[in-house]
Amino acid sequence: PETPLVLGIETSCDETAAALVDGEGRIFANVVLSQIEDHAPFGGVVPEIAARAHLDHLQPVIDRALRDAEVGFEDLDAVAATGGPGLIGGVLVGTMTAKAIAMARGIPYLAVNHLEAHALTARLTDHVPFPYLLLLVSGGHCQLISVEGLGKYRRLGTTIDDAVGEAFDKTAKLLGMGYPGGPELERAAARGNPERFDLPRPMVGKPGCDFSFSGLKTAVRQKVTALGEPCEQDIADIAAAFQEAVAASLVNRSRNAVRIFAQEHGKGHALVVAGGVAANKRLRAALSALAEKSGMDFVAPPIGLCTDNAAMVAWAGIERLRAGEVDSLDFAPRPRWPL
Ligand code: KG4
Ligand code: ZN
Repeated sequence: PETPLVLGIETSCDETAAALVDGEGRIFANVVLSQIEDHAPFGGVVPEIAARAHLDHLQPVIDRALRDAEVGFEDLDAVAATGGPGLIGGVLVGTMTAKAIAMARGIPYLAVNHLEAHALTARLTDHVPFPYLLLLVSGGHCQLISVEGLGKYRRLGTTIDDAVGEAFDKTAKLLGMGYPGGPELERAAARGNPERFDLPRPMVGKPGCDFSFSGLKTAVRQKVTALGEPCEQDIADIAAAFQEAVAASLVNRSRNAVRIFAQEHGKGHALVVAGGVAANKRLRAALSALAEKSGMDFVAPPIGLCTDNAAMVAWAGIERLRAGEVDSLDFAPRPRWPL
């Protein structure tokens, strides 16, 4: 059909999610069950716990999505599930479930690349036309990508060590915060003075579009150690300085990418940000200013669609379905799957 109804499934990390989306981009259900509480005592995602939690929760989450949308399995035109990259146990659970539904209903199955799902979210939320420049910033990824068309992604830069969300999480841990630390660090930064501590601004001024965050994290550790027992204000000030350094670094690398992108595609296209770290307000403001200076539209999907969800997976499936693509039930989950 012209506007297929697609069930999306996301299980690649620590969210068990299911969503129902149609070809017009209408989201009828978007259920996200976070496993944060299961992993918090360990300060990070434990793969074996994640796999078992997906197994326990995926079916009820899918049932809930169908109920929210007031549809049944018989109304589905296709099923799309994250096929990687991600933790293999969770990806297996999502993949097997999606294949079983597709087989039982005789409908197409799509194995979606999680990164492609993040990359295409702006087309679901804002109908952004190709080409556009994408900054993908999440717990596992930090990349600048020229999105030239469906399946046509050119990586302009990537991180040479930690992903930016990982840097937020590790720094937050150093500051005594819980997991995941990004949102808590942002809240602390709002009460802090970003000028008090001098932190390095990684890669700023260097040519190219690659990222690096491990040096910044080390610098934070040294400040914390030097303080001995940091008080609440110390922590807020370090958090503010860290957030400022990250924003400066991301904007600097993005500016280089904007230049390369404009040489190839001209002006008037969009700068899109995606991934969990795109929830950060300081970062959004800094990128929005860069886009304005560069004559680009700035597009940031709503926060609930920036962090991991299944609506983006369903949408990527819809885009591929429309291009005439389907996947074989032989598809094998891919723990690593570069765009
Ligand atoms: O995209 P996502 O939900 O999962 C991955 O695919 O990684 O991103 C999660 C990451 C975590 O590292 C989390 O700390 C970070 O996004 N994050 C933030 C904020 N909200 C989430 N980082 C900075 N500021 C935030 N407000
Ligand atoms: Zn993600």
